[in-house]
Amino acid sequence: MVEPVETPPVASEPDRDDLLVVENLQVHFPIKRGLVFDRTVGHVKAVDGVSLRVRRGSTYGLVGESGCGKSTFGRAVLRLEEPTGGTVMLDGESVTGLKGEALRQARRRMQMVFQDPLASLDPRQSVQSLMIEPLRVHQPAPNDQLVARAAEMLELVGMPRAALAKYPHEFSGGQRQRIGIARAMILNPELVIADEPVSALDVSVQAQVINLLEKLQREFGLTYIVIAHDLAVVRHISDVVGVMYLGQMVEEAGSDDLYAQPLHPYTIALMSAIPIPDPEVEDRRERILLRGDLPSPANPPSGCRFHTRCPYRQPTRCDTDEPHLREIEGHPGRRVSCHWAEQIASGEVQPMDSLVVEAVAAD
Ligand SMILES: Nc1ncnc2c1ncn2[C@@H]1O[C@H](COP(=O)(O)OP(=O)(O)OP(=O)(O)O)[C@@H](O)[C@H]1O
Ligand code: SF4
Ligand SMILES: [Mg+2]
Repeated sequence: MVEPVETPPVASEPDRDDLLVVENLQVHFPIKRGLVFDRTVGHVKAVDGVSLRVRRGSTYGLVGESGCGKSTFGRAVLRLEEPTGGTVMLDGESVTGLKGEALRQARRRMQMVFQDPLASLDPRQSVQSLMIEPLRVHQPAPNDQLVARAAEMLELVGMPRAALAKYPHEFSGGQRQRIGIARAMILNPELVIADEPVSALDVSVQAQVINLLEKLQREFGLTYIVIAHDLAVVRHISDVVGVMYLGQMVEEAGSDDLYAQPLHPYTIALMSAIPIPDPEVEDRRERILLRGDLPSPANPPSGCRFHTRCPYRQPTRCDTDEPHLREIEGHPGRRVSCHWAEQIASGEVQPMDSLVVEAVAAD
């Protein structure tokens, strides 16, 4: 068997089309003990060496189970969380070392949309006051101009001007998300990181919010990172999808390629759990089960971090040698962190029989 050749963590050379370039980003939270929490006894490696590039005007979907570090990654890119290592470049300039006014300017260019964006804000503030708050900080102007801009943004997201006088609790989840998006857009950002933007919404409303994000992207040339734990949510909106596991990227590919043929065992297992609307295909499908729980990011398993749950695990290399993201021959634009990606692609390495079950058709 040919030993795979390791390539650097980022696939291609940076170019002017990349709005965001993240190299080897780390966020390690100290675990404190002692009477006054003065002893560091370890670190939660929430993000542990993630590299990616996002092309201007494109959408990057970031997926993975709860706790794999997606939100921490998004927050660290925006410097809402201080990275403990690595670099973030926005439009060719490092964001990592910025301070004061320069950091404030960079923050204006990058905005975050949360699951329920108004929930984290003061419920006693009216929509008008919530909307113009970022403008007051970044682009002060007479009040009537700020209000006019807020009304314009609401219109853009399909909300009436009258919403300005109301309070967050007076709106449905979908409407609140629209207002949250309008608030994030008010400063004319270039990069929007949407963290689980539709997870709290009904399926029908999810589609409307996704459509709204796509419309805004077309109109303003926005670049998105859309974070979700559900692969189905990011499928249609994303140009590129990255899959995270325990603080690291395990697979990255063009969205169509990834969904057509996932190559990392973790992606394969996640993908096999998505119901397919065609009942005939659904009946023939096999589901690959993941064993056990997600290990702690404070104490990740040796070798391949996924080996404790991997249906394709091979003795003993998987337990001892750490795989790194590498390009896979015959799959341009794809990076996979598995020693056996080629053999899995060719069918030479198969999942353990006991972990393959018939898919249960969704009713
Ligand atoms: N401020 C913090 N201090 C210590 N640990 C943290 C902190 N924030 C997050 N973590 C830990 O870092 C890991 C990654 O958390 P994060 O919220 O980024 O995951 P996630 O992928 O966004 O999960 P979810 O899908 O549930 O939102 C988790 O183990 C979490 O408990
Ligand atoms: S390296 Fe081994 S344990 Fe890790 S994903 Fe590949 S087959 Fe599974
Ligand atoms: Mg999260």
